[in-house]
Amino acid sequence: MPHDESNADPDAWPPRDPEIQAALQQAFASGDWGKYHGQQCDALSAALRHTHQVSFARLCCSGTMAVELALRGLKIGVGQEVVLAGYDFPGNFRAIEAVGARPVLVDLLPNSWCLDVDQIESALSADTRAILVSHLHGGVADMRGVRALADRREVAVIEDACQNPGAIVQGKPAGAWGDVGVLSFGGSKLLTAGRGGAILTSQPEIDQRIRVYSERGNDAFPLSELQAAVLLPQLQRLAARNAQRQTAVDTIRNACAKLPYLEPVSAVDEESQAAYFKLGFRYLAEATADGTDRDTFLAALQAQGFQFGEGFRGFVKRSARRCRVHGSLPISAAAAESTVVLHHPILLATPAKLDRLIQVLRGWGVK
Ligand SMILES: Cc1ncc(COP(=O)(O)O)c(C=O)c1O
Repeated sequence: MPHDESNADPDAWPPRDPEIQAALQQAFASGDWGKYHGQQCDALSAALRHTHQVSFARLCCSGTMAVELALRGLKIGVGQEVVLAGYDFPGNFRAIEAVGARPVLVDLLPNSWCLDVDQIESALSADTRAILVSHLHGGVADMRGVRALADRREVAVIEDACQNPGAIVQGKPAGAWGDVGVLSFGGSKLLTAGRGGAILTSQPEIDQRIRVYSERGNDAFPLSELQAAVLLPQLQRLAARNAQRQTAVDTIRNACAKLPYLEPVSAVDEESQAAYFKLGFRYLAEATADGTDRDTFLAALQAQGFQFGEGFRGFVKRSARRCRVHGSLPISAAAAESTVVLHHPILLATPAKLDRLIQVLRGWGVK
């Protein structure tokens, strides 16, 4: 994939695409920027329906709210349970609580940041209504496995594709496997409008319930025309950018394959194509020459201008009053302690900048 020459500063984020500038100017000229709903939102919803092959794509104000609305659309509430991973975006746990339901924590698959499907079934109870699955840090969850289990046990699936828009998961677009799929258009995301989200479903009753819940004389959780206007041109470039990011990830993965202290996310299966909001690694302090801890590693990389951060804190330490825990969650606990993530903009950077990162990573921990 050739380097993106249309952008003078290829790893600037949000992107400085001329099409985005034109969309902003057009929204100003037409007055669309001051409208509630209109053709930009309609066009974005239609594009999302088309790319995900779903009947409804409801736009909303954030990925966090999209997860909550998905739960409400599934009529999940008090006395019911929702399975999610012991390591996930914190707002997902809160969204389950927000509808009055109880989170049930299941461990991750080793060397991944996604739910271990084999552990889900024994976590289900008579009260379980849904499984909430996120694709995290460049991994993809086994949605075929989740779907088969959910269908057999008659529970719903919420597929959180906030971190991997445009990814292909076992032959389908990420977000299209769930009874409901959710996307985020937050400021740092691969598709960004500063804030925003979307809820995907093919079930009319789910879409209808979300519409009724959101309607308070007005859509209470909207995405604006202006946000839709800047997202549309980004959708056009998403596949090419994701491909370019994959090339960079392959380069980093190959160059760092033998580094004992940095375990990359396992490569995805042949039917899938990942997308990278954050590229995850496990940082193994004990494998560095002098046992340097994760905070020191992150501070050093950040000081050199590389956007490395820690992963999520996970839910292993959540009080038993707030959730039901299935098993002892050792992989989730390790993920919370050891995950480091590389923010995506560098994956579109010049080869020279990528090479500088690789040299720093290779030199780290070497005496
Ligand atoms: C997996 C996951 N789900 C949901 C969200 C929430 O998205 P938003 O920031 O748009 O509320 C995020 C945000 O990072 C996320 O990573």
